[in-house]
Amino acid sequence: MTIVNLGKHLRMGAFVALIAACGAAAQQPPVKERPIPQVVKKDGRYALMVDGAPYLMLGAQAHNSSGWPGMLPKVWPAIEYLHANTLEIPVYWEQIEAHQGQFDFSVVDTIVTQAREHHVRLDLLWFGTWKNGSQHYMPEWMKADPAKYFHLIDKNGHPADSPSPFCTASQELDIRAFTAFMRHLKAFDAQRTVIIVQVENESGTWGSTRDYGPAAQKAFDAPVPPEVLKAMGKPAGAPVNWQDAFGVEAEVNFHAWAVATYVGKVAAAGKAVYALPLYANAALRDPIKPGAPGSYEAGGPTDNVIPIWKAAAPAIDIVSPDIYMNDPVAYLKVLELYHRDDNPLFVPETSGGAQVARFFFSALGLQGIGFSPFGLDYSTTPSVPPAAPTVFPAAAPGAPTAAATAPGPQDQFAPTAQNYRIIGPMMRDVARLNFEGKLQAVAEETGTPTQTLHFGAWNAIVSYGGGRGGRAQAPTTTQPTGRALVAQLSDNQFLVAGSSCRVDFRPTQADKRRQFIRADEGTYENGVFKFIRILNGDETDNGLNLRAEPIALRVSLGVY
Ligand code: DGJ
Repeated sequence: MTIVNLGKHLRMGAFVALIAACGAAAQQPPVKERPIPQVVKKDGRYALMVDGAPYLMLGAQAHNSSGWPGMLPKVWPAIEYLHANTLEIPVYWEQIEAHQGQFDFSVVDTIVTQAREHHVRLDLLWFGTWKNGSQHYMPEWMKADPAKYFHLIDKNGHPADSPSPFCTASQELDIRAFTAFMRHLKAFDAQRTVIIVQVENESGTWGSTRDYGPAAQKAFDAPVPPEVLKAMGKPAGAPVNWQDAFGVEAEVNFHAWAVATYVGKVAAAGKAVYALPLYANAALRDPIKPGAPGSYEAGGPTDNVIPIWKAAAPAIDIVSPDIYMNDPVAYLKVLELYHRDDNPLFVPETSGGAQVARFFFSALGLQGIGFSPFGLDYSTTPSVPPAAPTVFPAAAPGAPTAAATAPGPQDQFAPTAQNYRIIGPMMRDVARLNFEGKLQAVAEETGTPTQTLHFGAWNAIVSYGGGRGGRAQAPTTTQPTGRALVAQLSDNQFLVAGSSCRVDFRPTQADKRRQFIRADEGTYENGVFKFIRILNGDETDNGLNLRAEPIALRVSLGVY
């Protein structure tokens, strides 16, 4: 196709998209336009602003093939059970542009409309040029023409199962489709049901460290762009090619630059029509012992190339880790690597089980703006909510109803549901306190029985496992599941939330001892504390015992 034909399709596509947007907008009752969500930074801390205030994404990601109207009945009951406030769900390029240049946003509209009905916000995942390093979500008519929409060439001269970041024909079409999608969202979603968009999915390449096709080779032999040298801390000076500048890391750095440049252009074009927060997710390297180039997906925003992504794709607000690991040392290292002065921490994918749920608190401890276990819908599991976890006390807010007592995939769903049930009602307060720098949070680490959090005149001591004296013990766990959040509300008043641990306070003044003036169990709802009971006696004599079901406390302290 010539440039002229492409132009014709561009005009045609814009026209179809406009008609679709106008039609969709016409069906909606008039709504008051809310502020566009934003990522903001203040005093070195980030917040995701939604409806003008910090928002904590209590997310869950649907399975890859669940973004279809016929599958949504298996998604919403899971989101409801989890008490998630945000659903992450894909939007498929192959669906919205099944016919070249004609955009059909009816599926997007169905998802957005149903999300509103379920009072849930959306993180839409643009499955465009890249999905897990491949081009499997390109429209059929593109996949059928690999000569035009070409794949990357590997070191042996063979096409790989991965798109070439040097294929401008694909890039132009991705830009056109993503822009039409964002333009449609802007017209359809004055309510800001969609609060953030992921651009591509785990972009990059498995099995080849870069593209060896002719255009790629030419660029690899050319001087490294000065902004890349600067981002990677290399001295400016005489032009230097990739091999000479980066040695063994040359190929992965080059591929990261090529992929980030392509994705960055797609993101910038979409953002120009609708400035929602945008992010790119990464399949990770081993954070402790990163293997040599070739042992991990190259090209995506792995920790070693984050500066290259920041330089080449400034329209991407956040680069984010998909964390599929249970080991606390590795998990925490990943969180640290992505919690940067130039990058807010956001975990858009992680495993859903009991071993990982506690790391939601670790992410909060690094001012995380969101957390979202993957695959939490009923498309692959029985369509009944999992068995209700033991609740203490029975009258706890959000306690599961009788409908939530059927057997089901408890291991995968219940730990996340526990977290979100307790944090959900006070999500705005937790997000605000974190943005203000008043909140700290931790999770249990094997071999670390206590952790100390410093708050001016007070230290909060979090301990795990029983058997350290006192009548009422925090539960002894066979697996580490403990988690705690402590936020300073005023000089001597704290919010404490968590489970499977004990939280106590010590004055930093050596000659003083703490006393609990009062410990209220309840929850914050939009800044107002909803009281359930006063904890005392066995529940507080040796510290605040947080049992297996998470609770929230407002604690007033004194000294004597
Ligand atoms: C990471 C990807 O980003 C997800 O879309 C999904 O494929 C999971 N891996 C694995 O199921």
